[in-house]
Order: sequence, then structure tokens, then C-alpha cells
Amino acid sequence: MKTVIEPFRIKSVEPIRITTPAERERILREAGFNAFLIHADEVLIDLLTDSGTGAMSAAQWAGLQRGDESYAGSPSFYRFQERVQEVFGFKHILPTHQGRASERILFDLVGAPGRWVPNNTHFDTTRANVEHTGAVAVDIPCPETRRPAERHPFKGNLDVAALEALINKVGAENVPLVMVTVTNNSGGGQPVSLANLRAVRAVCDRHKLPLFLDACRFAENAYLIKQREPGMQDHPVREIVREMFNLADGATISAKKDGLVNTGGLLLLRDEKLFMQASNLLILTEGFVTYGGLAGRDLEAMACGFEEVLHEDYLAYRIRSVAYVGDALSAAGVPIVQPPGGHAVYIDAGALCPHIPASQFPGQAVVCGLYRKAGIRAVEIGSVMFGQAPPHATETQPAAPPRLELVRLAMPRRVYTQSHMDYVIEAAGELAKDPQSLRGLRIVHEPPVLRHFTARFEEV
Ligand code: F0G
Repeated sequence: MKTVIEPFRIKSVEPIRITTPAERERILREAGFNAFLIHADEVLIDLLTDSGTGAMSAAQWAGLQRGDESYAGSPSFYRFQERVQEVFGFKHILPTHQGRASERILFDLVGAPGRWVPNNTHFDTTRANVEHTGAVAVDIPCPETRRPAERHPFKGNLDVAALEALINKVGAENVPLVMVTVTNNSGGGQPVSLANLRAVRAVCDRHKLPLFLDACRFAENAYLIKQREPGMQDHPVREIVREMFNLADGATISAKKDGLVNTGGLLLLRDEKLFMQASNLLILTEGFVTYGGLAGRDLEAMACGFEEVLHEDYLAYRIRSVAYVGDALSAAGVPIVQPPGGHAVYIDAGALCPHIPASQFPGQAVVCGLYRKAGIRAVEIGSVMFGQAPPHATETQPAAPPRLELVRLAMPRRVYTQSHMDYVIEAAGELAKDPQSLRGLRIVHEPPVLRHFTARFEEV
């Protein structure tokens, strides 16, 4: 059969509310044209993020009942530990309440003023945690990342020559670790190839540096390797995941993505000494090493999620359903980052709205247009999110890449059906027929950092 179906049926439903155009106009104005300030029950289809928004399976819900809430040594922890060790091949595992808690512990231990952390592209919390220690976070994506319309199978790759050049410039002793984000969320949700990971590993070996993965979307990355990397088609995804992690000395993982849970995270480490130090920090701020800020029931749900996410029929459906939206949007004349990645489709708002200059936030105009037309919530990834001056000195940073004005349609896992997506495609297609109806915005209020969450706008 050619048709790819959702490999599950629905046992419990959650109604969503259809609003009128007049209601949406009022809601949008009351929220200061910022989708983060709209109440979620006034959103029809919520594509703000794929993080923590997935649907759990019947087995995961059953796991919640099985959860053992002992403070120390809970059997739920040992079941979780065994599953995680089996999937990732790491002995030392710490649970955390979400990805950024793992990042904070890691960078507290290895970050400091005068240090440099390279990454294909830091996610914003990763960057913030690096910078919080006084270290400099450097993004070195491959050049293809910056060309949205160009199709390249692994636009998430790290620029290996730039990595070598950076290490030679700042000195290996000032680079505590090299990080690779799989998939590259801020770079368009694009995958990283095994060949690229191996090349980065070789540079790390030459300079005796540890390699860490920011691996929230490891299973989607592995499936895209299976689909796109020559010679990998017959390899089970489980094996590809092990190949990716065998190359790494550690990983931070937000389980809110491919862990298929609503909250949870992991810190994986090989180094015994670093593990002991991280355990002490975990106890200080998250919780004891056998629960790390989570309930025993959360550990059960994660153990189950990390197993389910590797089912190939699930991944085939997941990757195909994202590609379906991307292909249909392209056919409807909506410019997108090509090819669609693992968890989201990114609309190229700069290309869609050439009449709106970057200073008037074309991405935000598209976000408002989607809500106004159809009650769909998306997120701007462009001048609103990244247009603020960074808190640290900029002369130490290499020239910033030309900024893209993107709008991310992130797909929650196992939540929406194909007809929900057909509705999204129709709405975006109508905007693309009449982009002149989209209006630029100006900021009327902004906080000093991370302004996209709370800024208020008015239309120009
Ligand atoms: N790294 C990446 C690549 C991420 O995408 C995220 C979160 C994190 C780290 C932090 O994990 O939220 O569990 O603390 N991304 C979400 C998003 C918020 O919408 O893309 P967290």
C-alpha cells in the first residue's frame, strides 16, 4: 500500500474551539499581536512547538499508574535506566526535569569566561546556558543552512573546516567541548549526517576534545539518515541511533520531543569524574540521582516513550506527515525551507513578504496572518527572536550569518490528523495568494532579553 497512515487509533479526544473572525481579531489585538500571549484555548491548531505537546500512548498512561514514588532507588528509575542504557549505550545517566536543566548542569561544569563552545546552531536555551557561564557560544552551520530554497539532504551539518579554524584560532585548551544539535532546530529542523558526525569526531580526536550531542530529536535525525544517507537504507533505526551516540562523549536530551512525554530530560556522560560532579549539582538543584526533579511515574512514561519512538512505522508516518505539509505548502505557492526536516515546516516569510522589511518583522506578520485567517498558532524565528543585541561583547564572535525571516509550523507528535493539516495548508495557501494583505509591525513594548515571549506590537 502506498498510503501512509497514522499507526494508531484515538481513544480519548480533546475538543478544540472554532472561533469567529471577529473573535480572533479581538484576541489578536488583546495579545499585542504576539502569539505567545494568546490563551491556548483560543487557538484552533497549535503549532507553536513540538515540545511537551505530544500525545502519550495507552502503554505510557499505564506506566503512570505503575510509577513508584520512593525518594531513593525507585524501581521506576531502574526500569528507566535500563531502557536508556540500551537505546543510547551510555553507562552514566542522570534524569532531569527538561533539556535546559541538563544544559545548565553541563555548562556550569565546563563553561567559564575565556572559553568557546562551537555548535552547528545553539538552541536559544543552550546558548543562554553557555553565555550564563561567561563562555562564548559560536554557531558554525554548513553554508547550505543559509539557503532556504536549496535542497540538500543534510542542511543540519556542522561546518567542519570552520570548526578546525575556530579551534586553531582560540586554542583547543579554551574549547571545553564541541556540540552538535540533532536535528538542527534553529537551522530549520534539518538533520545531521553520520558522515558529518564522524568528521566532527575526527577533529575532536585530533585536538583531544569531547563531543556532545544536543539530541532532543535523535530518532527523527536517525530516520532521516536512513532515508537520505547513501548506504544506510537497510540499517535499523535503532542501530543508527547507536552509531550516532557511539561517536559522542555525552549528550543533553529534552525528552519532551522524541521521548514522547510532556516533561523530562536526560544528561548522558562517559567521563566518571564529570558524572560525579554532575550528580552533585543535580542533587543541589533538581533532586536525588534516581529521580532528578521528576516523579517516578514520569520516568516510567519516558522509559516507554524512548522505546516507542524507535518503532519504524511510527517514524515513517512522522517524517512523511511533515513532508506532506511541506510539499503541499510548496505546491500552494508558500516558500518554505527545503527539504522539510523532522519536526516542523519553516515558511520563508522573507520570500513570502518582500514588501515587508526586516525592521517590520515579516515573520511576525505571517504569524498574525495565520491566526487571523484560521486560528492557527505558529512561531516567528527571525528578527523578533534574534534581532536583539546579545548581552556579551560581539567583537569576539565571527560575523553573524545573514538572518532568515522564518515562521515555524512545529508538529506535535501523534496529535493532529491529516485533515487538520489540510486545513493548515489551505490557510497558508490563501495567505500566499494575497501576501499584500499581510502587514508589518512595530514593537511598542519589549523586555531587555528574550523579547519574543512578551513583546507587544502594533500594525504599521
Ligand atoms: N535543545 C534543542 C535543540 C531544543 O529544541 C530545545 C527545546 C532544548 C534544547 C531545550 O529543551 O525545552 O526541554 O528545556 N526546544 C523547544 C522548541 C522549546 O520549541 O523548539 P527544554
